[in-house]
Amino acid sequence: MKKTIFIFFILFSTFLKSEDISWKKYKKKTFFYQKKIPGWCTVEKSEKMMNLIYNASPEICVEIGVFGGSSVYPTAMALKFLNKGKIYAIDPWENNECVEGYDKNDPNYIWWNKINLNKIYKSFKKMININKLSSFCQIMKMTSENAVNFFKDESIDILHIDGNHTEQKSFLDVQNFLPKVKKGGFIWFDDANWNTTSKAINYLQENCEFLPNMSINNTCLLFRKF
Ligand SMILES: C[S@@+](CC[C@H](N)C(=O)[O-])C[C@H]1O[C@@H](n2cnc3c(N)ncnc32)[C@H](O)[C@@H]1O
Repeated sequence: MKKTIFIFFILFSTFLKSEDISWKKYKKKTFFYQKKIPGWCTVEKSEKMMNLIYNASPEICVEIGVFGGSSVYPTAMALKFLNKGKIYAIDPWENNECVEGYDKNDPNYIWWNKINLNKIYKSFKKMININKLSSFCQIMKMTSENAVNFFKDESIDILHIDGNHTEQKSFLDVQNFLPKVKKGGFIWFDDANWNTTSKAINYLQENCEFLPNMSINNTCLLFRKF
């Protein structure tokens, strides 16, 4: 009997180790391809986002502000590895939405006014298809204000806020979407060190637990809803 338990234990731990190795290799491959996708998600952020998914095993993930899919890609790849869950990718891919709230002389206005978002949207859709991620990614080509009512209260496991960064819009995103996150669910907030996002960050700090060890410096913060 003792021998059987011992053999079972050895086989089980070997299985766990091989799972771990294949997950590490899978992430490495993901980071390599991710570099080709337009956007701002760093390897450090991708790894933290992927590890959170691996450990939390979510059903519903939501990203506000997709651009070329630099952060949707590692999320969808982690869901594909687990073979469960979906990322709802919300973005209007419209210049007028991106510049809303910015002064005409603001560098953000100038940059977002010029970029060809239709081309970025097409490249995003192509990337999702090439990587066979469509079962794990639902594209919602609309503003976050219009998308919010598609989600039931306390239904989202992981929310990533990275849309319009003006004070008014970023605050609206946390106010609108926090009720949609499950109690114990997670919220990533990008560009948390901008002056314009501080109101949104204060709101999250009042209503959630801040997880400094899992956050990325002072730029991308992770919160857990009370
Ligand atoms: C900083 S980029 C997102 C970057 C992306 N998450 C990454 O890691 O590469 C901001 C995106 O927010 C989108 N956006 C602007 N206004 C929005 C709104 N009202 N709702 C949702 N997305 C919006 C823009 O089209 C743009 O693609």
